[in-house]
Amino acid sequence: MRLGRLNHVGIAVSAMAEARARYAALFGEGAVGEPIDLPAQGVTACFVRAGDSEIELIAPLGTESPLAAFLQKAPAGGQHHLCFEVESVAEAVAALRAEGKRVLGEPRPGAHGTLVAFVHPKDMGGVLTEIMEAPDAHG
Ligand code: CO
Repeated sequence: MRLGRLNHVGIAVSAMAEARARYAALFGEGAVGEPIDLPAQGVTACFVRAGDSEIELIAPLGTESPLAAFLQKAPAGGQHHLCFEVESVAEAVAALRAEGKRVLGEPRPGAHGTLVAFVHPKDMGGVLTEIMEAPDAHG
């Protein structure tokens, strides 16, 4: 199982408007995208272009958000996950599971409209790891 390019770093934030303003000051107004609600994942996501890479700001959406526990432990927010590109999420999930790694749930559409899945941090050296199909992988 080989992972590809680092697509983005996920940063948990408790207040999206405040976070967007902070990243606009760091990377410029034009680098900060619009927030997108992802009800299937219980988060609102907002991408910030950082040169060749991206930062994904994520804030809780709804009462069942998986971010709630994270922000309870770290109210100021902080680094939440790393996301790597793969050619096929379905194949990567099968390979990761064959290696005994815990994939959280089933692949689902991510913020870029392509399939994503998450791998348990306990099987990835403490790093919650997202895998995604690159937006341009299928033309
Ligand atoms: Co992500």
